[in-house]
Amino acid sequence: VDPVDELSAQLEKLGSLDKYPNCYPDVNPQDIYRAHITSILHEITGVDHTIIYNALQWTLSLDKGDLVLAIPALRVKGKPNELGQQWLEKWPESPLVEKPVINGSFMPFFFKPVPLTQLTIPTARKLGREFGSNKANGLKDPSDPSKGQKRILIEFSSPNIAKPFHAGHLRSTIIGGFLSNLYSIAGWDVVRINYLGDWGKQYGILAVGFERYGSEDALAKDPINHLFEIYVKVNKEIAEEKEETEKLQKEGKTAEAQNIIENSTDEQARKYFKLMVDGDEKVLALWKRFRELSIDRYKETYNRLNIQFDEYSGESQVSEEAMNGAAKSMLEKGIAEESDGALIVDFSKHVQGKAGKALEKPIVRRKDGTALYLTRDISELLNREEKYHFDHMIYVIASQQDLHVKQFFKIVELMGHKEIASKVQHINFGLVLGMSTRKGTVKFLDDILRDVGDYMHEVMKKNQDKYQQVENPDAVADIMGISAVMCQDMAGKRINNYQFDMAVMTSFEGDTGPYLQYAHARLCSITRKANLSEEEISSADLSLLTEVHAVNLVRVLSQWPDVVQNTLRTLEPTTVLTYLFKMTHVLSSSYDHLRIVGSEPGLMKARMALYDTARIVLSNGYPIVGRVHDVPT
Ligand code: ARG
Repeated sequence: VDPVDELSAQLEKLGSLDKYPNCYPDVNPQDIYRAHITSILHEITGVDHTIIYNALQWTLSLDKGDLVLAIPALRVKGKPNELGQQWLEKWPESPLVEKPVINGSFMPFFFKPVPLTQLTIPTARKLGREFGSNKANGLKDPSDPSKGQKRILIEFSSPNIAKPFHAGHLRSTIIGGFLSNLYSIAGWDVVRINYLGDWGKQYGILAVGFERYGSEDALAKDPINHLFEIYVKVNKEIAEEKEETEKLQKEGKTAEAQNIIENSTDEQARKYFKLMVDGDEKVLALWKRFRELSIDRYKETYNRLNIQFDEYSGESQVSEEAMNGAAKSMLEKGIAEESDGALIVDFSKHVQGKAGKALEKPIVRRKDGTALYLTRDISELLNREEKYHFDHMIYVIASQQDLHVKQFFKIVELMGHKEIASKVQHINFGLVLGMSTRKGTVKFLDDILRDVGDYMHEVMKKNQDKYQQVENPDAVADIMGISAVMCQDMAGKRINNYQFDMAVMTSFEGDTGPYLQYAHARLCSITRKANLSEEEISSADLSLLTEVHAVNLVRVLSQWPDVVQNTLRTLEPTTVLTYLFKMTHVLSSSYDHLRIVGSEPGLMKARMALYDTARIVLSNGYPIVGRVHDVPT
């Protein structure tokens, strides 16, 4: 029997796929197997389709099968092992799966290789860039695409103007970029927001500093570094003045101390910021220029990471009016109360027990009437709801701010916006340890990337033979450096801290960014050398792919759409990355066994179709976590 005919016969036998939740065989080859096994188990056990379908799990490694059922998950009375044996007695001959063997309370399934190959390779090659993405996830109603996409807001990166770009911002950028890519291939309408730290007395300090030390030339050339330098300088002056006044006060020279305080840089900055808050156009124009020039520079760097924001919002964009409104509403609803002239939220009065205590008593409006980080976030959230009518929103913020985020989500809920509170999510992450560069302090992302790029360049030079063949070593080192940083960040679970280690991340051995880049480059080079036309590859006789290495590679490749689905559940970059490393390991170990050059033409075509599928998976998977480049080998 022709395996393709056999497959379509099987599909027809399954009948309507509606009874299987999230079953999309057109884009996910494994869904056919899931549906097929479900229908067999349903016939035998009578258990509901949905329960069986959802109980079929991935395996940890290929030797454990392609899918596995934990027998107790079907909730049938009896001992799992005995139940399994009884079911096996009734197991029909299947064209798609081998007859299972019970292993304890598990029933592992091994797919028959020929139909799997016939299904996976053509599906992947037909879908190309779309293989692995399933736009159904992002539809408001998967059964009716005309109802449109769901909208997700992802707020990430969010550095502070004139202050260093620290590890927290680096991770937020990487994880936020990953989430944006993930949701976008899942069919969501993704809005990427950068919520800049661009407001507060520190911008008064910066302006006063600019009057003293600023240079228009330097600002135009390198706004981020120039502003940072000014900021550091003027803060040093403030510290000195403070020391001076404290000394005078200690000596009892109160009048002199007072005189310094009144004319101090700090006081000037406070007045300056007051003018900004009051909307003084002249001072706002300067601040606006700082902001815009900085954003222009940010954009260049984000582009290197393949990240583009849809909106540069920021603390400055939250209107005083909206914040006063929010504070008033908190007061009226009895959520906030006066305390020493300020407005606070005493959570222990609103949330019972330990949880309430843990949320503490944050201030939402200062004595002098100025608002705070917390209040801004509350207002901004309400504002985003109005502006975007989103279905979901993710904040990618370091776990150091867990308490802050909990407080502001809770306040929004207490204010009666239950619906809004239910669709916001905090994606947090741990620290990066030891992130200092060799060339001084980190000021912006550029400094980090440049440093890793330089390091990467040295690593490359160690292999002079290969190095000589690289056409543009600077550019290659730069790209490899970027993937090194990204992969190191994404290797573990988000919540874990990790050590920033240039030697480890830039190595070609081990599960690193350069290793993945190399795997991709090697595939591209094989493709070039084989030099087969699209028609030749498409016409390949895939039944020739019988070797264990070929079969195992197909099995891993067929998992890719499921990996994406699973990642949408875990929201962990490591879910994708771990898979990509697993796949590339199977791939590299197959090269010696599945040669192209020197094989007879039929085999050459079939193997090329297999490698092409691997290339598709790698180049679809890699951009989720970063950016793939065809680096010449
Ligand atoms: N700019 C802040 C910081 O550097 C991060 C902003 C996080 N986002 C938020 N909505 N609070 O700490």
